[in-house]
Amino acid sequence: MKFSRILSGLAVAAECLASGNYWYEKVQHNGMSPAISNGANWAVFRNVKDYGAKGDGVTDDTAAIQKAIDTGDSSGTRATGRSFGMTGQPAVVYFPAGTYSIKGTLSNRVGTILMGDPTDRPTIKAATGFTGNYLLVGHDTRYTGLIAFYHGIKHLVLDTTAIPSRKIALLEWSVSQANQLSNVRFSMAPKAKDHTGIATTGPATELLYNDLQFVGGGVGISLSVTQIHLKNIYFKDVLTAVKVVSAVHITGQALRFEGCDVGVDTTAGGNGLLNLIDSTATNTPVLVNAAPIAAGSTRNSLVLENVIVDSSTVKVSGAAALTGSVRPGSVWIRGNAYQPGKTGATSLAGTMVPASRPELLVNSTGFYHTIVQPTYAEFDVSQVVNVKTVAAHPVSGNAVADDTASIQAIINDSVGKVVYFPYGIYLLSDTLLIPPGSRLVGEAFTQLSATGSKFKDLKNPRPMIKVGNPGDVGVAQFHDFVFTVNEVLPGADLVQVNMAGARPGDVGFFFCVFRVGGAKGSKLWNNCADARTCNAARISAHLTATSSSYWENVWAWSGDLDLDGGSSVLASPAAGLLIEAQKGTWFLGLGAEHYNLYQVNINNAQNVFVGLMEGETSHWQGNGTTVFPPDPWAPALPSDPDFSWCPARNAQCRMGLYQIVRNSTNINLYSQGWWTFVMGPSRTFCSVDCQDNGAIYEGNSKLFIYGLDTINVKNLVLEGRNDKLTNAVTHADNQGGSFDVFKMAVVAAYLRQST
Ligand SMILES: *[C@@H]1O[C@H](CO)[C@@H](O)[C@H](O)[C@H]1NC(C)=O
Ligand SMILES: *[C@@H]1O[C@H](CO)[C@@H](O)[C@H](O)[C@H]1NC(C)=O
Ligand SMILES: *[C@@H]1O[C@H](CO)[C@@H](O)[C@H](O)[C@H]1NC(C)=O
Ligand SMILES: *[C@@H]1O[C@H](CO)[C@@H](O)[C@H](O)[C@H]1NC(C)=O
Repeated sequence: MKFSRILSGLAVAAECLASGNYWYEKVQHNGMSPAISNGANWAVFRNVKDYGAKGDGVTDDTAAIQKAIDTGDSSGTRATGRSFGMTGQPAVVYFPAGTYSIKGTLSNRVGTILMGDPTDRPTIKAATGFTGNYLLVGHDTRYTGLIAFYHGIKHLVLDTTAIPSRKIALLEWSVSQANQLSNVRFSMAPKAKDHTGIATTGPATELLYNDLQFVGGGVGISLSVTQIHLKNIYFKDVLTAVKVVSAVHITGQALRFEGCDVGVDTTAGGNGLLNLIDSTATNTPVLVNAAPIAAGSTRNSLVLENVIVDSSTVKVSGAAALTGSVRPGSVWIRGNAYQPGKTGATSLAGTMVPASRPELLVNSTGFYHTIVQPTYAEFDVSQVVNVKTVAAHPVSGNAVADDTASIQAIINDSVGKVVYFPYGIYLLSDTLLIPPGSRLVGEAFTQLSATGSKFKDLKNPRPMIKVGNPGDVGVAQFHDFVFTVNEVLPGADLVQVNMAGARPGDVGFFFCVFRVGGAKGSKLWNNCADARTCNAARISAHLTATSSSYWENVWAWSGDLDLDGGSSVLASPAAGLLIEAQKGTWFLGLGAEHYNLYQVNINNAQNVFVGLMEGETSHWQGNGTTVFPPDPWAPALPSDPDFSWCPARNAQCRMGLYQIVRNSTNINLYSQGWWTFVMGPSRTFCSVDCQDNGAIYEGNSKLFIYGLDTINVKNLVLEGRNDKLTNAVTHADNQGGSFDVFKMAVVAAYLRQST
């Protein structure tokens, strides 16, 4: 989303391996950037040592690293102008093991992943005499936070221990979706109150920070964001581990606080809801320091589930509201709860309520399964296949050639290996079948793009990527890809998952994006002026009944703005994620935006965990539109909503639903956030409710939802089927005040279908 008025155990996988042996450092790098004029020679991979960095802990490497980041092509550097667009300048700036001493701030550019050797994480260290407010500005500041897409920071250590009295943030990270911050350690001087690990200064609408460590310093993470999922984060001796300045909601999952003064501080007052789950605190006197809930408001709601402490307290307005742990089987709620058999909200002031989790989703100690994203550090470079170096099966990735047959042959021959796709746009004219034993690694968002007549039949959708056949069990993992379409393909399902992982994460999607329109390199670019005829894709991800899969940091996005300077952006893909999986599904940090019929549909499903979801409806829907769903998506699939509960041509009722949960059981959802910022093709800002309905929940059992939070949505939940729907949860009953000019509703728990 883009609207700048909003808000005027760790991962050290294999350090025992000899450094310099990581396959990605040694593999041939022959990526290109098809969407720019000189793209065949574009340097995707940049080893900082090739740009003069020493990494010896002594030499000032500031200029060399910045050069590796900024280098463009013969037409100029990436530091000036925007001639490469947002998607035309993919880069991985790679740091071999070592200590890189710097004396001034490093600034990242759009499209760029700063990545260290995961077998021996390199350190970027502020030298004595460092000047600047940040060690690293992680995103390209020419794009404001809300359009700061496509950056990454991984496998690094950021270190300010040598400058204890300087006021500094190690990482400025006001970014939005399609950004990755993973496996980074923030080393700050002990008790250095002016050191902040991550500063988000807002606006920012982010999905996930995963597998981080913070040691020392004043504040670990300072948040001014719309939402964020924090997963597997260790805070050691940080004065305030997480400081919430402003957020609609936050999920903290598997946070570990040791020797901190305060775990999470939300007293700055801008917080809608905090979900803290599966977390532990030792020697940390205050677990949460919360602001009160004012009379008539739901702002500052708080949910704790499976939080184990030695002696911490939760404070509200400075007084202890809870001392001790919240053990599995219970949840502690402050805020509005919709309970089984009761109509309307019950306001809970810190009450233990029974909780339950599906056995399939948790480990033996009752925590939701999580995994650390695989890096394949245990693979030798000889076990890695670069798809552009297989002589028998030529692949080009140039956005022109049809790469389907060659890629299929290479994938078939590479079971048990790693298949590496250097950055490029790989056109696929038919389904790719991914067999068990597949590990596919992209680079700064390698694109897999559907093309051609096989994907045009609206009545018979066909997958571009088919992950196994029903009944297959095994490994199929995807990293750093964009799944997209090259033209209007109303019969394209981008990804269909049938395979089940033998263990959670064996079938996994890590840091992947679904994108329809809004960028160069596709015929949709600047050529999508009517939602009726730009019905460009059917479903982004379809998780079928037999599948079991794990998703971390995934954004399904229909372009509501153009990343590369074009203007016609009225794509109308039908559906975001259709989840019919029954065998165990995990989503951490999920975004789904601007689909015509729905963002997420959980249909006939079982055993689904979503730790955080953010959604937005199509920006051309709402008052002012002349296209009313389900148009142009007839005939419907059986799982599609038909909008029969809406009067004809009622624009505010006929808007894509955020969520449907129907005929499903064992579904546990946290921090579900749905934002309607604008309405109609002219994208008029909303400062009142301009979408009638958020979700439909019908016929479910064991459905547990903690955190339903909306902006400008009148009815959060409808219950029942089609024309018999009733408003069960309304904005009017759950007023959370304003978020900038927008109106927030906050519901702590929806448990009416939990029995
Ligand atoms: C269960 O998961 C939690 C959180 O990720 C982890 O700390 C714990 O060690 C796990 N328990 C077992 C038995 O693996
Ligand atoms: C790949 O494997 C599948 C499943 O075994 C097979 O149907 C297909 O013909 C193979 N394709 C190629 C190009 O090897
Ligand atoms: C509801 O779910 C059950 C169990 O998955 C399934 O057998 C049944 O067909 C579903 N009913 C509908 C109407 O989809
Ligand atoms: C949308 O249009 C309807 C019908 O004219 C009107 O009642 C409603 O107030 C409008 N909504 C907004 C947010 O302007």
